[in-house]
Amino acid sequence: MIFLLQEWIEIILRWLHVIAGIAWIGSSFYFIALDLSLKQNKDLPSKSHGEAWQVHGGGFYHLVKYLVAPSRLPAELTWFKWEAYATWVSGFALLALIYYAGAELYMIDIVKYDFEKYEAIIISIIGIIIGWLLYDLICRMALKTNVYVLIIAILILVSSMSWLYSELFSYRGAYMQVGTVLGTIMVANVLMIIIPGQKKVVTSLLSGEEPDPKHGMIAKQRSLHNNYLTLPVIFIMIGNHYPFVYATSYSWIIISLILIIGALIRHFFNVKHTGENPPYWVLFPIIILITLSIYVSEIGKPNLELKNNKTTVKLIPKIPELILSNAQEIIVSKCSMCHSKEPLWENMRSAPKLIKLETTEDIINNIDKIYTHSVISFAMPPGNISFLESHERAEIGKLYEAISNIKNNK
Ligand code: HEC
Repeated sequence: MIFLLQEWIEIILRWLHVIAGIAWIGSSFYFIALDLSLKQNKDLPSKSHGEAWQVHGGGFYHLVKYLVAPSRLPAELTWFKWEAYATWVSGFALLALIYYAGAELYMIDIVKYDFEKYEAIIISIIGIIIGWLLYDLICRMALKTNVYVLIIAILILVSSMSWLYSELFSYRGAYMQVGTVLGTIMVANVLMIIIPGQKKVVTSLLSGEEPDPKHGMIAKQRSLHNNYLTLPVIFIMIGNHYPFVYATSYSWIIISLILIIGALIRHFFNVKHTGENPPYWVLFPIIILITLSIYVSEIGKPNLELKNNKTTVKLIPKIPELILSNAQEIIVSKCSMCHSKEPLWENMRSAPKLIKLETTEDIINNIDKIYTHSVISFAMPPGNISFLESHERAEIGKLYEAISNIKNNK
């Protein structure tokens, strides 16, 4: 019952997180596209910056943008902020429920650092705050300098954070920590910079003063960063379901490559929205960078060195007995303390993801997942908690190959 309740809380939070994220990112994409498509028209009211005509849902919309602000404040004003806040709050709640409550499985890798649970949590929280402060500092320093310098500085900051966390936390913990830092930067841009700036503009308008255009400029810079960070952050959030992305030795490099790929894709659409010819050239660096990411995940796989135990492979159309018994012995001793009907692992009430790895049948039925999680990546055992050695991973790999060969009728 408690287990079920926890799972329900998790799925409801996830539901909220994804929906709030859709609302936030959807509106942000919409406004970026709208902004870029604005056209000048001399008949527009004073202080306006451009107009757009759109058709949707059975009607026509005529939108006019005012820069810095209209001469008079309208009676009703819709703000866009709750989508961003709800995304962060639900995301942090998920982080706490899954990664912090289960820190020994999801954050800590005792071979890297044998943190106490509370230490890992404190480092993660302080890391999120420091990530924002450093980013904010770089932006403040670079407001007047070249935009490319700023981009490179942010890229270096994120890459070094990813590297640092990959040294401190488990693969999965490090990966999600970087995603959280980037997501937090995006929300903090809204909460600490964009909205307060716009509030100041509104206050000036109300008191009959001329608003300071500085606020608009800063908000625009941060809003642009959010625009470019969106795709990489979403990649990280869905990437934690793909062990070859988050749990290989150079997953931190993959994050940096994705940061560039995501920005290139956004750049393509940003130019397209202005009505100009889209920069099709971005396709080339994107293909190169994706190829590079695949290569990086390949070289970061566990190193499968075989020990010199000569297995006699019988060429009969079924799994060679020795391969099966070797792999089964390893899996039972290194996985089934958690993956069993009644796990021995403390506070674990049922097999994680309902994957049981006890009998020959369990193992054969789940061999594909076992392969993705423990042969071509370090995802399992979590934080290598039961010390799965590379020659043991190789043995499991052999079983996978034997079964695939039989399935392919080789
Ligand atoms: C200390 C406990 C523990 C050990 C030991 C362990 N696992 Fe897991 N395993 C988990 C947990 C927790 C999850 C759920 C992870 C999640 O929520 O994505 C999991 C998930 C999985 C999944 C399913 C992933 C999915 O999303 O479908 C596979 C496959 C898996 N483990 C294989 C293994 C293999 C193979 C081993 C041994 C080499 C192993 N595990 C050892 C705790 C463990």
